[in-house]
Amino acid sequence: MLDDIKEILITEEEIEKLIIKLGGQISIDYAGRNLLLVSVLKGSIVFMADLMRAITIHCKIDFMAVSSYGAGTTSGSVKIIKDLDIDLDGYDVLIVEDILDSGKTLSYILELLKGRHPKSLKICTLFDKPDRRQVDLKADYTGAEVPDEFIVGYGLDCDERYRNLPFVAVLKPHIYS
Ligand code: IMP
Ligand code: MG
Repeated sequence: MLDDIKEILITEEEIEKLIIKLGGQISIDYAGRNLLLVSVLKGSIVFMADLMRAITIHCKIDFMAVSSYGAGTTSGSVKIIKDLDIDLDGYDVLIVEDILDSGKTLSYILELLKGRHPKSLKICTLFDKPDRRQVDLKADYTGAEVPDEFIVGYGLDCDERYRNLPFVAVLKPHIYS
């Protein structure tokens, strides 16, 4: 697996710093509220696991899975694979995403969850590729902006692989083709 890597873009130490900062800010902003972290599987699982431990106030967690299917590495339409277990009524919901790219996946989830009338609804993404946005969407919390390159690791996959890399990397060109 390590032979496939061209370059490490964000190290484990850098990721840890980003998450401590996000967790600290969320702990301040949501103090005294009814925080529910909603992780969008599978990509955000590693981020969720670290972010929840960087949060120092009470929170609950839940998971949903969607599939974005389109050609290759770009997002097409969105389908719910696994829905939430918790009724959102009365919760301050924070959606936890790995990466915000075109924005299509998150804008779909956002509209869906809005319709369930949570007390509040915000977005926390570890990475953002603002240059690739196709819909008007901004995250409320962003770990770091990344260049318009396909990245893997720390939950992010290429054809379901590389999620277990502890850092974020770019693969050698022949792997993508
Ligand atoms: P969007 O709907 O285009 O914003 O796509 C968001 C989803 O596409 C993310 O949750 C990822 O699963 C996937 N994605 C977007 N960019 C990358 C990348 O660079 N590497 C791996 N997955 C990505
Ligand atoms: Mg993915």
